Amino acid sequence: MQKIQLASDNWSGCPQFVTDSIVESSSYSGAAYGKDSYSLKLEAEIKALFLCDELKIHLVSNGTAANVLGISSLLMPHEAVLCSEVSHLHVDECGSMERLGGNKLILLPETDGKISLSALEMAACTSMDVHRVRPRILSLSQPTEYGTIYSEEEIKSISRLCQKYNLLLHMDGARIANAICKLKKDWLQSLPSLGISVLSFGFMKNGGALGELLINFVKDSFERMQYSQKQLLQLNSKQRLVSAQILSLMYQDRYLDLARHANKMASLLKDGLLNLGYIPTRSVDSNCVFVCLPPKIQTELAKHCDFYEWNNLTNEVRLLCSWSTSPNEIETFLKLLAQITKGT
Ligand SMILES: Cc1ncc(COP(=O)(O)O)c(C=O)c1O
Repeated sequence: MQKIQLASDNWSGCPQFVTDSIVESSSYSGAAYGKDSYSLKLEAEIKALFLCDELKIHLVSNGTAANVLGISSLLMPHEAVLCSEVSHLHVDECGSMERLGGNKLILLPETDGKISLSALEMAACTSMDVHRVRPRILSLSQPTEYGTIYSEEEIKSISRLCQKYNLLLHMDGARIANAICKLKKDWLQSLPSLGISVLSFGFMKNGGALGELLINFVKDSFERMQYSQKQLLQLNSKQRLVSAQILSLMYQDRYLDLARHANKMASLLKDGLLNLGYIPTRSVDSNCVFVCLPPKIQTELAKHCDFYEWNNLTNEVRLLCSWSTSPNEIETFLKLLAQITKGT
């Protein structure tokens, strides 16, 4: 039997229409380095999506590159990044921001992945002193690394505080489609007016195959970011392949349908776990479910299912659903867990 895959949405493949779009765009020859018709169309579609003309798009190799290019292009060397202590930027990007951007990260405490206004204010209101780095940008993950979602009101309050302390705002939206499905449809369009400076708009975990999209809303950094993209080795000559697959995902909001499905599978999984007496440790807002499972159960389960052990002290595991998770897989997983629980 094939293993059930709940390890990561990065593990899942991509829909046929994504593969087709890559094949189709690879047979065309035309301008390189983002001047091709697919990339120009993508930029126009992103402008329409955000109801905003003053933005530039950058297609980069992965989510880490989007975060590092987006943030570092806006900062001076003495300026620092505020982010949650569990952020991907800090925990899972192998110090790329520090190495390539050279900027210091200042870590904020979190609860279920979210930072609080008081922690943000405490870090932001540091006295200006040549001996200290200057907090200049907040990096916020939406959804967070625990799959929780900041509400519109929470984002508004954070954005107001950023404006008060002259902080730029980066959003790490590696799974942003999963958040969009939970918020109002026009939430995305409110981001420019909320002062979002740069957005890492992820597609790879949601059916994409190549590269990620970075959106820059800071007009006076447009030119600088273009040069930084090249210097940071992120300027792909055949960008049209990356743009074509993102266009195929955006066509008729397919990317939202895929994310909605992944969220639905997580909600099915949560209900099934509750029925078995396992209470998720984090609010299930998107496509991730966190739960504590005794080590013996994890060992048995791992013979039939891929998942991540998140915290080996608390026995918390992460079960991640994707666009390709089927209701049948969730049912099989739950049956298996019920059997293993009974037998231990
Ligand atoms: C919150 C978050 N940001 C960014 C990324 C992008 O990572 P990668 O560079 O592997 O595409 C991930 C991937 O797991 C993520 O979970």
